[in-house]
Amino acid sequence: MAAGIVEVFAKSGLDVVYVGRSADKVEGVRATIEKSLDKAIQRGKLEEATKAEVLGRLTGTTSLDDLANVDLVVEAIAEDLRIKTTLFENLDEICKPGAIPATTTSSLPVISLAKATNRPQDVIGMHFFNPAPIMKLVEVVSTVATAEDVAETVRALCDKVGKVAVSCGDRAGFIVNALLFPYLNDAVKMLEAHYATADDIDTAMKQGCALPMGPFELLDVVGNDVSLAIQRELYLEFREPGFAPAPLLEHLVTAGYLGRKTQRGFRDYSQR
Ligand code: 3HC
Repeated sequence: MAAGIVEVFAKSGLDVVYVGRSADKVEGVRATIEKSLDKAIQRGKLEEATKAEVLGRLTGTTSLDDLANVDLVVEAIAEDLRIKTTLFENLDEICKPGAIPATTTSSLPVISLAKATNRPQDVIGMHFFNPAPIMKLVEVVSTVATAEDVAETVRALCDKVGKVAVSCGDRAGFIVNALLFPYLNDAVKMLEAHYATADDIDTAMKQGCALPMGPFELLDVVGNDVSLAIQRELYLEFREPGFAPAPLLEHLVTAGYLGRKTQRGFRDYSQR
């Protein structure tokens, strides 16, 4: 997700400083972006000459201090409130006044991160969708403390980088995940109940509802760990018994079968 978001901004002509946890991670992001740009060229979506320009706008670093002069930070680290809170405390110290700290969280309350800073009026959610370079939507999430001009700036930025922004409140799941994840969770329960196979459920939803991916294909792209975190937050916030995560989803995460990123999720990708 992080590499995809860096690509989106750089492709739109913006200079991007991105921070990774290690030199390897920093190089990995660049390699991922390069691969995606090559794919875009193959698909006729990007000129070959533009690739070098896009890569030239990237500055990779392992130091948060290099964010001192940026106008906007898009945080895309682990979905863990403690880790994110510490980062927002650090960003508040490092970033210049007026810089906007945005989070891509898909499940945590944005207000908790805003409260970790001395600029809660500037903290906002920018929820991108997988795969970020292709999916057009960004949910712009305002907390009770977000200033309207900050939300306006972020919506205008989304427009500038070719995304479609929708505005929503700081509730678990925002708009899309609040509607999507109960469906994905139900698909896992259906599989667990031996109601139908994963292949047949995927085929049914693709052919019956014209969806680009079936629920298990999508879960393996999003990641079962991320999906479980979202489902848990929905359950915690809305207390709907049906929102309780399907046990099979919990077990796959415990087993480390997180989806494509670990070569195995609902399906095995090691030979593909
Ligand atoms: N750069 C630019 N464009 C690219 C590209 C790249 N690297 N790779 C592909 N594309 C373009 C293609 O040219 C094509 O464009 P076109 O329709 O104008 O010709 C389009 O993207 C689709 O590409 P492909 O034909 O290669 O791929 P598919 O047709 O198999 O579609 C997909 C891939 C877009 C991922 C599609 O399967 C899809 O929409 N899946 C569902 C994704 C989804 O639902 N995401 C949301 C998940 S929920 C989430 O993210 C929330 C979070 O909180 C967890």
